[in-house]
Amino acid sequence: MKLFLDTASLEDIRKYCALGVIKGVTTNPTLIARENGDFHAIIREIASVTDGPINAEVLAEDWEGMVREGEELAAVHPRVVVKIPMTAEGLRAVSTLAPRGVKTNMTLVFSAAQALLAANAGASYVAPFVGRVDDIGYDGIAVIRDIAAVLSDGDFETQIVAASVRSPLHVVEAAKAGAHIATVPPKVIAQMIPHPLTEAGLKRFMDDWKKRV
Ligand code: E4P
Repeated sequence: MKLFLDTASLEDIRKYCALGVIKGVTTNPTLIARENGDFHAIIREIASVTDGPINAEVLAEDWEGMVREGEELAAVHPRVVVKIPMTAEGLRAVSTLAPRGVKTNMTLVFSAAQALLAANAGASYVAPFVGRVDDIGYDGIAVIRDIAAVLSDGDFETQIVAASVRSPLHVVEAAKAGAHIATVPPKVIAQMIPHPLTEAGLKRFMDDWKKRV
């Protein structure tokens, strides 16, 4: 399972891409709104840091606006993936953009039924929101498992991007449940790095090295 970074912060994108573990970046209107600067300029800067796909979301809620914005975003950089919300208008926009060669990520997906619709519309990616499902007392990882099962017949090339990831455990469980990608906030990537036994082991190696004769 590949790891994407779920942020629009260039500082964090530079920091974690330098580790060589980040294969793409996802943004959403909330994440872009936290940054200063023009939307398209931010996407271009992200593209200059990562070699992978850069997800940028449309703001329109009608089909015509989504298609127009989707084409504009796709023209910003060849690696842009256009995020489109899971609505009837959004499905229509995905099925319009896909034959035009625009890669799309159907976002705000909370069920296998929605994921099936997105795949049939031609979405390149589908993004179930694990944490937000957990927040309302259901099992977000079970949604990933269901989506992986219903898309496993090989009819579609739609990739599952586990989104709304809140912990290292979410990342591991998403991989076990069949996600192709997890998009992970910088804070969670940072939490995935250390382990008390790694720290203790390193200290012991260094202490033993200093004692050598
Ligand atoms: C992807 O970019 C999603 O929009 C994001 O993972 C949502 O995360 P949140 O539920 O923590 O806002």
